[in-house]
Formats: sequence, C-alpha cells, structure tokens
Amino acid sequence: MDLNINGRNILVTGAAKGIGRGIALAAANEGANIVLHYQSSKKEALETVKEIERHGVQVVLVKGDLASIDDVQNMKKDISQGIGEIDAIVNNAGFAQYKSFFKYQPGEWKREIDVCLLGVMNLAHTFIPDMMEKKGGKFINIIGDSARTGDRNFIISAAARSGTISFLKSLAQEAGRNNIQCNTVALGLIDQGQSFDPDVLEKIMKQYPLKRLGNIDDISGSILFLLSPWSDWITGQVLSINGGHSMLG
Ligand SMILES: NC(=O)c1ccc[n+]([C@@H]2O[C@H](COP(=O)([O-])OP(=O)(O)OC[C@H]3O[C@@H](n4cnc5c(N)ncnc54)[C@H](OP(=O)(O)O)[C@@H]3O)[C@@H](O)[C@H]2O)c1
Repeated sequence: MDLNINGRNILVTGAAKGIGRGIALAAANEGANIVLHYQSSKKEALETVKEIERHGVQVVLVKGDLASIDDVQNMKKDISQGIGEIDAIVNNAGFAQYKSFFKYQPGEWKREIDVCLLGVMNLAHTFIPDMMEKKGGKFINIIGDSARTGDRNFIISAAARSGTISFLKSLAQEAGRNNIQCNTVALGLIDQGQSFDPDVLEKIMKQYPLKRLGNIDDISGSILFLLSPWSDWITGQVLSINGGHSMLG
C-alpha cells in the first residue's frame, strides 16, 4: 500500500532520539520531508538529521521550548525559510515526572502542564491556521495511556494530557471544515533498551495481554497511517497503541 506521503513536509517534535526519531526516520523512508525539532539534544539531533538525509529527502532542523509561544513562532519562521509550509505535525515531545503527587513541591507541576498541555496549544495556534487556509493538514498528538486511565505516578502529565484529548476533539471540530484531521495516539510502555528489575518487569507484563512491551515499529506504522490520506475520514479520535494495557470503549 502506497502511503502517499512522499514530498509532504512533516514536523516531528522531540525527534532527536527515541520514539520521535523513529517516527521521523519512518516518515523519511516513505519520502516525506522532515522538520526535525529538538529542545536540548543537539548532538543526537544532528546525528538523526544525517540519517534522514540518507533517504534523499529534505530535512530542516529547528530548536525550541514548546512551552514558549515565542519559541514556537520562531520555529515557524525558520521552517518557512527552510522548507516552506508544514503539511502535518506529529507532536511527540513531552515532559513527564514519575512520582506521587505528594512528593511534588507546590508549583513543581507547572512545567509538565506547560509542556504537555500549553505546548500543544502553542503548536496548534501557530501552525493550524496555514493548514486551514490551504485546506489540508494533520495534527497528531502523542500521549501516554495514563491520560486515559489515570496513573498515581504520572499524575500531573496524565492530567495535562487528558486535557489535550479534549483540546484535540474541539480542534477537530473547529478545523474539520478545512479538511484538517486532529487525532491523539496514546502509548503504553515502549521498550527503548531500559533495564528493568526482572520482578518489576514480570509485574508490568501481567498488565499487558500481549505479554510484551511495545517497540518503536509498533508505533510508527500507525503514525504513518494517520499521516497518510488513508486516514482522511478519521478525526477527533484517540488510538491506543498499548498492547491491550487498557481497553476503553
Ligand atoms: N517511552 C514510553 O514508554 C512512553 C510511554 C507513553 C508515552 N510516551 C510519550 O511518547 C513521547 C516520546 O517518548 P520518548 O520516551 O521517546 O521520549 P521523551 O524523553 O519522553 O521525550 C521526547 C522529547 O521531548 C522533548 N521535550 C521535553 N520537553 C520539551 C519542551 N519543553 N519543549 C520541546 N521539547 C521538549 C525532549 O527533547 P530534547 O531531548 O531535545 O530536549 C525529548 O527528547 C513522549 O511524549 C512520552 O511522554 C512514551
């Protein structure tokens, strides 16, 4: 199946390494031009740029703190000069602290909310109007499954990202008439070579009907589908890629 994203300009945030890098490489492999965003991982970003270039597509590197509207607007200026307009955004960047609510100092939760919730608004406000004008575009927001299920140790990022689910549904309604699709992808635990204590891993596996953690290929296939015209009649939805960890109707 041809995904028909050849020549599309796709912004992937937080893509220097990890899941974002995997998504950027998978899209480049399909012929998409990549705007690779990073915040602090410059060395890894430059390495990923080199790998993307091997696919013979255009790649533009942009830097910014998504919690800052000034940074996001400056990213847009750099993108305009480097590649023109964006056709799709995969917002993969995130900041989540793993601890109980009562281990936070008052106010320590603000940064997570700024990145995980306000960052999504900053991206949408900056980039969606141009997509609406040209009557086409895709906005995909990656979150953790905890935003749907709750998780006592991801209590702040889960709350912030549960807000993004609602935000993307409303945005899908606002921008749908201009042929913009806005969807959320909720992830379970992804194997990125972390070392787990065997007992902890066994406990985690009990929560996964498919009895394994996810990997980056498990994610990138679905993201490519959501970036492609094959998903043009899907909007305002939440797709869980989670090995069955939660099964929400
Ligand atoms: N890994 C998992 O098992 C899992 C499970 C559920 C959900 N998720 C979500 O999936 C996404 C990717 O996960 P990951 O484990 O590959 O990476 P990650 O380390 O959680 O985050 C990806 C990138 O986000 C960027 N970032 C953080 N704060 C930022 C800010 N204020 N502005 C701009 N960028 C910022 C960082 O870029 P720099 O390094 O350049 O600073 C980081 O590399 C994340 O949103 C994560 O929460 C992951």
